Amino acid sequence: MCGIVGYAGRGKCAAKCVYEGLLRLEYRGYDSAGISVLDGGKITTVKRSGRVCQLESAAGGMSGGIAIGHTRWATHGAPSDTNAHPHNYGAFSVVHNGIIENYAELKEELAEGGRLCISETDSEVIALLIDSLYSGDALAAVAAAAARLKGSFALAVLCRDFEGFIAVRHKSPVAIGECDGAFFAASDVPALPAEAENVYFLEDGDIAAVTYDGIAFYDFGLNAQRRESCRIPRGQFTADKGGYVHYMAKEIEEDARTIRDTAEAFLRSADADALGSLLTSSDEIIITGCGTAYNSGLIARRYFESALGRPVTVEIASELRYYPPPVGKNTLVIAISQSGETADTVEAVHKLREGGASVIAVTNCGYSAITRIAHAVVPVCAGAEICVAATKSYMGQLAALYLISRCTGDVRAAAKELTDVAEKIPSVISDDANADCFSDMCAESFAVFFLGRGADYDAAVEASLKLKEVSYIFSDAYPSGELKHGTLALVDESTLSVFIICQPETANKCLSAVHEVLCRGGRAAVLTSVPEAAEELGKYLPVWKLPKVSPRLAPFLSAAALQRVAYLTAVRLGRNPDKPRNLAKSVTVE
Ligand code: M6R
Repeated sequence: MCGIVGYAGRGKCAAKCVYEGLLRLEYRGYDSAGISVLDGGKITTVKRSGRVCQLESAAGGMSGGIAIGHTRWATHGAPSDTNAHPHNYGAFSVVHNGIIENYAELKEELAEGGRLCISETDSEVIALLIDSLYSGDALAAVAAAAARLKGSFALAVLCRDFEGFIAVRHKSPVAIGECDGAFFAASDVPALPAEAENVYFLEDGDIAAVTYDGIAFYDFGLNAQRRESCRIPRGQFTADKGGYVHYMAKEIEEDARTIRDTAEAFLRSADADALGSLLTSSDEIIITGCGTAYNSGLIARRYFESALGRPVTVEIASELRYYPPPVGKNTLVIAISQSGETADTVEAVHKLREGGASVIAVTNCGYSAITRIAHAVVPVCAGAEICVAATKSYMGQLAALYLISRCTGDVRAAAKELTDVAEKIPSVISDDANADCFSDMCAESFAVFFLGRGADYDAAVEASLKLKEVSYIFSDAYPSGELKHGTLALVDESTLSVFIICQPETANKCLSAVHEVLCRGGRAAVLTSVPEAAEELGKYLPVWKLPKVSPRLAPFLSAAALQRVAYLTAVRLGRNPDKPRNLAKSVTVE
């Protein structure tokens, strides 16, 4: 989604600081970028369609101690210079993350008063609205405007008559860090300078007036609020490629470390008894999330069902928020979200909680919206994940979910199983011969199908998402047994079928499906930890032998291998895997 930044510091380098913040925040959107600086009661703005780096020289020439900035993921209006933020009107300059649902009616009302929008965005109307409510008190105008906006919004606002900036939060995140006497606001903690260890997280309905001297917090009625800062350990959230060409490559290398750290943190601080009693006292468990988080839920379903001996459902959060099943006080929701800010997941959980359900959140971001709704939070210890495609966070989610599912049994033994699997990951992701062979085959394909049975099918769903989002090759996942019920019609020499065969009890059935593909002229490749399958299929096609682990934990290894394949395929095709077209990290709008 879009990212916003604000800065107030006594030097004259606010634009440069905001520019650097935008570079760190660019994973939230990269359709356009812009900066406004306030200096001596005058606002200067630069904004352009395209990447943040285009602002470098302009930002270097902008002097002033107060600035705001924006990096855009377009929702209303194409990526263009005019639609880029900041949007200026009268005395104000505004950047916005979120969606203004009543923008059309506000636009009409403001036009009647002679205030006309020039962009196609839903955001510009905010600047016009604030200006229309202004009679010398910037804070009062922003508060009055915030109270009239519907939808989701994080704002940073400059006013030529106010020596500072004003930040607002309603269903879109804002964090403000203190750093060497300056104040830095951003949509996400990784965009704050590494030195900003004391961080305030705005609550929904908060307004923060940020000046050189400090921060004053209010609600939309301008009643003063008290907010405590949190100390964020340095390094935990910093965005740094660490010598890798892409974040995606670095983050895949961090898969094993993430599993270990998540298991250690769980043993150190999770209340296994409390989690266990949430599991056993529930009549019904619903796992939810979006994208990769949902995919980790697919695998987790099997963990919970085997541990508890009863059915568990997994629902896509964007559906669940509008079509929730009947829930009550005996419903347990396990919500998974890397960012903890995904609007669909947060809303779904909110709705179920209002219906009486208990909530466990599994998240990589400890100060996120989802942690404020949950009854219990289980951390994923991936550290900052910058690549838009989720990799190490998926591994951490699987680890956390496996441990939660074992809370009614021997959690320490489960943690040991996870650290044993983690030890095997480096040899899988450094297997360049197989990774190169598979990615060559993918790169030459018109479409790639990922197939498996049981937990291998669940892993195939994530492998397919990973490949399509970073390489733009059409891809889908099916249970191997479904091939003959329709998808086989698509199989020819232009398609590749990648089979994951790590469940010994159905390995033979998968062999038949491989032969169905081969005898119809399709191309195939196999990842397997079943020696008989490797021996048989190795005669006809490329086989990537994976280390043998417990079948239920096999997705950790097949996922790591196929993350690497997706990465290499994207690079071969000249895509930027860190910033796939049309996507953004942290989807904080519907
Ligand atoms: O932050 P979340 O885990 O809630 O994000 C959910 C999805 O938006 C995310 O997993 C998305 O599908 C990624 N692009 C997958 O790589």
